[in-house]
Amino acid sequence: MLKKLSEGQIGDPVDFLNGDWYAEAMNRNLALECVRVTEAAALSAARWVGKGKEREADEAAVNAMRKTLENIRIRGRVVIGEGERDEAPMLYIGEAVGSGEGPEVDVAVDPLEGTTITAQGRYNAMAVLAIANKGEFLNAPDTYMEKIAVGPDAKGAIDLTQTPTQNLKNIAKAKKTSVSELTAIILNRDRHQDLITEVRSAGARIRLIQDGDISAALATCWPDRGVDVLMGIGGAPEGVLAAAALRCVGGEIQGRLAFRNEEEKQRAFQMGIRELDKIYRTEELAGGDVTFAATGVTNGDFLQGVRFFPGGAETHSIVMRSTTGTLRYLRVTHNFNVKPLVF
Ligand code: FBP
Repeated sequence: MLKKLSEGQIGDPVDFLNGDWYAEAMNRNLALECVRVTEAAALSAARWVGKGKEREADEAAVNAMRKTLENIRIRGRVVIGEGERDEAPMLYIGEAVGSGEGPEVDVAVDPLEGTTITAQGRYNAMAVLAIANKGEFLNAPDTYMEKIAVGPDAKGAIDLTQTPTQNLKNIAKAKKTSVSELTAIILNRDRHQDLITEVRSAGARIRLIQDGDISAALATCWPDRGVDVLMGIGGAPEGVLAAAALRCVGGEIQGRLAFRNEEEKQRAFQMGIRELDKIYRTEELAGGDVTFAATGVTNGDFLQGVRFFPGGAETHSIVMRSTTGTLRYLRVTHNFNVKPLVF
């Protein structure tokens, strides 16, 4: 007989026959609610595309995301957010979000992944949100993280303790190809000069990107994107969000926090991190039942950006869940005459 389970829990393995139908229905609904949040952030940020105003674009996304989250039936707590309470007026780490009813979840946000991209009107900016059961996201401090990420066909072949050359060899072996056929995607930063030199000497190709390593990590999971591995140092919060996305599509990421100074180490310690050089695996970065949603702000590898037209706009989003492996693309028309853009 079907039974109604406690709605305060998400993520238990779902067994329809045994009747977890109510919790499952809640979770499905939550996935679509997450998209509403990223859509609102993307629509607001998109008004600033190409205007050279990073702060304004970010603020617009944060405001919209914060407001829209209020309508979602969750008791959420931000674990990956805009920073510490004293530096971020909204979506700060520890902030309670959601309607205050429903399941207790952890929330990871990057309201505008690619503020510079947006300000310059370039490729791959998006609004990102992920939720998981309470306690399942790494409480990553706002520092850097050394990362390596691959798609499902090279899962198990990466190891952050190995050199980039050895990792490339292992990835090539897993993919039954040669290193010279691989492409690594790397943020174009001075700190990556040695890495770039080594990857080139190993014989692999490189796609250098200016920003946006969440979508770069995700790109390794789509063979037609022509990218085999993400390597290098990017933001730690972005590492957790990338792990959330990769959990849903069967990829793998490993990350090690890369601190810039003593103060960052102290902050990490205060946030409960004891082993500063620990290598985190995908599930340690984002475990449990994860839902990941993103909406394009500018055109990108996965998503088209917001397209405004008189009286409305069109958005493109992706939403996926680790528990079911379902991945949905949503192309949505927003009618501002009926529902004005208020943020
Ligand atoms: P923002 O959304 O904060 O602009 O981050 C963009 C980004 O490129 C991330 O994707 C990446 O993880 C991080 O910045 C790298 O940091 P830095 O620009 O300091 O090298």
